[in-house]
Amino acid sequence: MSCSYASFSFSSLSIVPSSISVARSRSKFSIQCAVGGTVAEPKVTNAVAEPLLLNAVRGHAVERPPVWLMRQAGRYMKSYQIICEKYPSFRERSENVDLVVEISLQPWKVFKPDGVILFSDILTPLPGMNIPFDIVKGKGPIIFNPLGTVADVDQVREFIPEESVPYVGQALTILRKEVNNEAAVLGFVGAPFTLASYVVEGGSSKHFTKIKRLAFSQPKVLHTLLQKFTTSMVNYIKYQGDKGAQAVQIFDSWATELSPVDFEEFSLPYLKQIVDSVKQTHPHLPLILYASGSGGLLERLPLTGVDVVSLDWTVDMADGRRRLGPDVAVQGNVDPGALFGSKEFITNRINDTVGKAGKNKHILNLGHGIKVGTPEENVAHFFEVAKGIRY
Ligand code: CP3
Repeated sequence: MSCSYASFSFSSLSIVPSSISVARSRSKFSIQCAVGGTVAEPKVTNAVAEPLLLNAVRGHAVERPPVWLMRQAGRYMKSYQIICEKYPSFRERSENVDLVVEISLQPWKVFKPDGVILFSDILTPLPGMNIPFDIVKGKGPIIFNPLGTVADVDQVREFIPEESVPYVGQALTILRKEVNNEAAVLGFVGAPFTLASYVVEGGSSKHFTKIKRLAFSQPKVLHTLLQKFTTSMVNYIKYQGDKGAQAVQIFDSWATELSPVDFEEFSLPYLKQIVDSVKQTHPHLPLILYASGSGGLLERLPLTGVDVVSLDWTVDMADGRRRLGPDVAVQGNVDPGALFGSKEFITNRINDTVGKAGKNKHILNLGHGIKVGTPEENVAHFFEVAKGIRY
């Protein structure tokens, strides 16, 4: 295969992974990856006003990979813990415009990531769909009346974001002004199957028996529910884009509980429908898909039409690139556990990932959210090393 790139300095990529060799050819440096597939040549652009993250997603030439971290606003930060003491309810923290803005900006102020994600939750739309929920400390999400019957699904309303969650739009608009294109403001939604699994299971689940009972004994009921979430999440993504989000990540955290054949029935068509509908009216709004544990599904994920696939850390970045193909950008995929390691370990892991991802269409990130207890100084080190990279 070839992934060769125009001249660049390799100074920050001090450790060259064994699968990649750096060679001088015709007075240019090139990276040759020992994996299949070709990563398209970057187009040179003068779009300097655009955030780095958007340029990278679009395949433009960038000097380094943009970097942000999933769950970068949250419990590992002392400043967030202080807000939690004052406002113990997650729903209040995530539904009050001032708090949403303040919490979203906490990591921005300290680490200056290239993406500033809205502080919210994938479950935030549920009350607007007539599904009451809460997030309880130590327990996680709780759905008060789990859904299981045709009658339950009939009660689910279409989500109209401007009516149900005006604070999300207001917060995104403020964030966009505050961040001022120095980074991309990121919105997010839950994917239909993942949302369905929460509302059918009644919360987080270990074995997913209720959703599977529904899927495998009354598939029509589940399909009706999945379609409602699909229509609603299309509304929500468009709303987020209109209010200031510059890219939107779709979390299908639990789709990987499905066998590939069931993923093709209960998740993939709905993800594709979301992407197709959003692209009709918002063709330039990049969509990122994250499904933890998606190693068995990688070849299927680009079929959704998303712009970026976010990999978890159990897939080698070079293998992931090859299996995803050249058209889609890739995000990830450092083990969140690496941030408990030494600074040297963190540096080496970043260099390994960046080297394997290649110079084009890569957003550096973790393979899942930051873990509670991650030392903030290690997060600072992660960003410092990442932002010092020059291709
Ligand atoms: O990335 C960010 O900084 C943005 C904020 C964000 C939150 N949840 C805030 C939050 C994002 C992107 C999410 C997505 C989300 N929520 C997912 C998909 C990502 C994934 O982990 O796979 C899922 C499955 C949820 C549902 C959910 N909400 C869970 C499983 C939990 C954790 C429960 C627990 O206590 O461990 C939540 C609560 C939640 N949402 C927290 C945060 C920071 C932790 C609780 C808190 O801070 O009070």
